[in-house]
Amino acid sequence: MEQNDLSISIMELEDLNQISDNLEKNFDDFWNYNVFKSEIENPNSKYFVCKQNNEIVGFAGISIILDTADITNIVVKKDFRNKGIGNALLNYLIEFCKSKNLSKINLEVSSNNDIAINLYKKFGFKQVGNRKNYYQNSDGLLFTKTI
Ligand SMILES: CC(C)(COP(=O)(O)OP(=O)(O)OC[C@H]1O[C@@H](n2cnc3c(N)ncnc32)[C@H](O)[C@@H]1OP(=O)(O)O)[C@@H](O)C(=O)NCCC(=O)NCCS
Repeated sequence: MEQNDLSISIMELEDLNQISDNLEKNFDDFWNYNVFKSEIENPNSKYFVCKQNNEIVGFAGISIILDTADITNIVVKKDFRNKGIGNALLNYLIEFCKSKNLSKINLEVSSNNDIAINLYKKFGFKQVGNRKNYYQNSDGLLFTKTI
């Protein structure tokens, strides 16, 4: 997928190696390298990277079981937030799920992550559950979208 100078493609191990030194600093408090690597190699998971002029500016992943995808993460590089990249990644994930004839996308998000909640609602995700105190200082909100 290409939009302006953004491109989204399957995440390769080489991509992870390129960002691994600064995963936490540039992206967020995040999975460690080995967890991430095993996810990339998991045949039931699909990860995508978004690049701008060859720089990795975001990534997102899903795990697929039967006809349902679970969004495991969607993260934009800190300096590149609020420029439409999260939009592009989520749109890409949804189109990918449609192309695989999946029927549902689930995700969980912290109740204090207003930005991500806004993003998911914008794409038609509906809240279907609330895991009280799932995180240290917040609930885990369960959202779903039928496709
Ligand atoms: C959530 C995240 C991926 C959004 O990516 P982004 O590239 O900044 O988002 P975009 O610029 O594409 O904006 C998409 C939508 O997100 C919401 N949003 C983005 N920035 C926002 C802000 N500062 N305040 C409120 N809503 C915001 C809006 O709904 C926006 O749509 P709009 O521009 O039409 O209003 C990014 O903030 C991020 O990486 N956060 C840390 C990781 C994280 O929390 N991931 C979600 C885990 S469940």
